Amino acid sequence: MPSASLWSAIELGGGLRLPNRIVMAPCTRNRCTSDLSPPPDAVEHYASRAEAGLLITEATMIAPEVQGYLDTPGLFLDSHEAAWSRVTTAVHERGGRIFVQLWHTGRVAHSYFSGQQPVGASDVLDRVPRRQAGVASLYNERPRMLSSTEVEGVIAQHRESALRARRAGFDGVEVHGANGYLIEQFLRSHTNRRTDDWGGDPERRARFGIEVVRACIDVFGAGRVGLRLSPAAYFGEMTWTPGDNEAYAALLSALADLPLAYVHTGIVEDCAYDYLGGTSTEFLRRHWSGCLIANGAYTPERAEQMLREGLCELVSFGKLFLANPDLPRRLRDGLALTPYSPALRLPPTYARSPYPGPEAPVFVR
Ligand SMILES: Cc1cc2nc3c(=O)[nH]c(=O)nc-3n(C[C@H](O)[C@H](O)[C@H](O)COP(=O)(O)O)c2cc1C
Repeated sequence: MPSASLWSAIELGGGLRLPNRIVMAPCTRNRCTSDLSPPPDAVEHYASRAEAGLLITEATMIAPEVQGYLDTPGLFLDSHEAAWSRVTTAVHERGGRIFVQLWHTGRVAHSYFSGQQPVGASDVLDRVPRRQAGVASLYNERPRMLSSTEVEGVIAQHRESALRARRAGFDGVEVHGANGYLIEQFLRSHTNRRTDDWGGDPERRARFGIEVVRACIDVFGAGRVGLRLSPAAYFGEMTWTPGDNEAYAALLSALADLPLAYVHTGIVEDCAYDYLGGTSTEFLRRHWSGCLIANGAYTPERAEQMLREGLCELVSFGKLFLANPDLPRRLRDGLALTPYSPALRLPPTYARSPYPGPEAPVFVR
């Protein structure tokens, strides 16, 4: 019977040893400079949390046209690389390890930011407004289906961004395959109506995610690339359809042959879903025997129990880490935790995209 605890060290592969099992979950800050670099305060934001076994940055755009929210940073310009390297240097100076979460939003992008129609696995529009800090809500726009040549181009964009991540000093990358963004749009039959090699049966729907992960591993090597997944279809107007579980199973089965660092649950609260036959983490565990990061409103006590029972190898905390930069120390010393409140979030910097876009956005009034 496994008996890991929050305080047992673990090696992810590729020589990366984590001194504890506490991961900082990726949390968008909606703060960046006018060229979409992380702002100067990102350095202290991450460095002050360096006691985590592993830090994962906020979702970071791999290209300008994927922007779907205010003031989210990128990793596709030299200036982004320079700004992120100040973050990684500070984290390393304090003894930490940090992965960047690489992000293609797919149909969640918006022309308000880039002036371009969003792209998706198919042209499926679910016309639901998205809450948009500071500027009311934006309606989703109908995406344009990526051509098969463009799909290859998006994989290459991930590779380019991973190269920049390596040059910026990141210890690895987390591919954002969760929360309804492009990889999930390929996985689910509701959003993937393609009839070419990137759609149709579960294996073909899984192929895009596999190729993105493979491209990042080509850059970073073994034990340096993780993948976040949301099998519960809980976010981004995703719709679960029978057959979707098989696409996740196909993806995870193919990934077993690659030297992945980990698979990471993406869910707001890791509760049971009948169509998954349990929680999201339990579903992933059934299909993935490698390193698994549980997530979703975990208390330290429930995290310890999951580790003790071998149901996961690591646990990530989002809101608790935002509210308690010194979370590992507080847990170790049994100190009280500050509860999370949305009021803890700083207002967006309103940098906006420098790329040409319509001045009159499609807002919900
Ligand atoms: C303010 C905020 C921003 C978030 N941004 C991201 C993000 O950029 N990428 C991502 O995969 N998940 C994001 N999430 C989801 C968290 O990573 C996590 O899955 C969720 O908060 C549940 O875990 P928790 O209860 O430990 O916070 C965000 C959550 C919050 C509260």
